[in-house]
Amino acid sequence: MSLLQATHLTLRAGSATLVDDVTFALAPGERVGLVGESGSGKSMTALAALGLLPDAVTATGSARLDGREVVGAADAAVRRLRGTVAGIVFQEPLTALDPLMRVGRQIAEPLRRHRGLRGAALREEVARALADVSLEGDRIARAYPHELSGGQRQRVAIAIALAADPQLLIADEPTTALDVTVQDEVLTLLERLVADRGMGLLFISHDLAVVSRMVDRVLVLQHGHVVEEGAVRRVLGAPRHPYTRTLVDSARFLDAALDVGAGSPGAESDRRREGR
Ligand SMILES: Nc1ncnc2c1ncn2[C@@H]1O[C@H](COP(=O)(O)OP(=O)(O)OP(=O)(O)O)[C@@H](O)[C@H]1O
Ligand SMILES: [Mg+2]
Repeated sequence: MSLLQATHLTLRAGSATLVDDVTFALAPGERVGLVGESGSGKSMTALAALGLLPDAVTATGSARLDGREVVGAADAAVRRLRGTVAGIVFQEPLTALDPLMRVGRQIAEPLRRHRGLRGAALREEVARALADVSLEGDRIARAYPHELSGGQRQRVAIAIALAADPQLLIADEPTTALDVTVQDEVLTLLERLVADRGMGLLFISHDLAVVSRMVDRVLVLQHGHVVEEGAVRRVLGAPRHPYTRTLVDSARFLDAALDVGAGSPGAESDRRREGR
């Protein structure tokens, strides 16, 4: 059975159709990418799968997590699936974190709720969860989010998403807000966690190089439609749809422009300043 199965999933806000008749499946342990320009419906598709759509957006069709229907399901039922079946990491770690609560308590919360841990066992598990994301336990556990760097905050957000041991991780532009060296560290961490735990991964990014590194299969969204899908090497190496070709060409153009600059002194630091 699929971990995530979207069937004729359609999302509307008023008269606007944000996602139109999207069908795809993600098998256990499979890594799937969602690419497409800004506004193409990547985040909405992910949010719909987790029952986290904004109030203004209505869903029709079906989105099933581990066989259980999310579209039209009661909040309480979907809340149980979040965390245990699927966890999500967003672009901006602060959206997942409570600014007024120490980080250790925020990681403890899902461990208590989903796994019933208490006392010393809970403290031990918080330390293990932090070690899993390569953070030094005690100091970080006592810190408030604003006392951490962006990379540390995203590691904490990943620890929270994984606390209840989900089978699927949804990562929506998880490194876009981080600077380039930290980006690479967080991607390496995600790769390791997904591999070690045999998790499925739905990875959303506009960065095709990052997507090709992280996933096996990719779906290309344009204006809420899937215009192309297939093995990531095939889709990005030999795109069939004109829209995919445009995406790939503009990514190549950017790479080529950066390569030309790379030989000149200062090019690397320029690139860092620009957040590339
Ligand atoms: N709260 C909302 N209410 C109504 N429409 C929304 C809302 N949030 C986003 N949209 C619209 O939904 C469409 C899809 O947005 P979505 O956030 O899924 O795009 P995206 O592919 O994730 O883009 P990006 O790469 O910029 O993150 C856009 O047209 C957007 O304007
Ligand atoms: Mg988005």
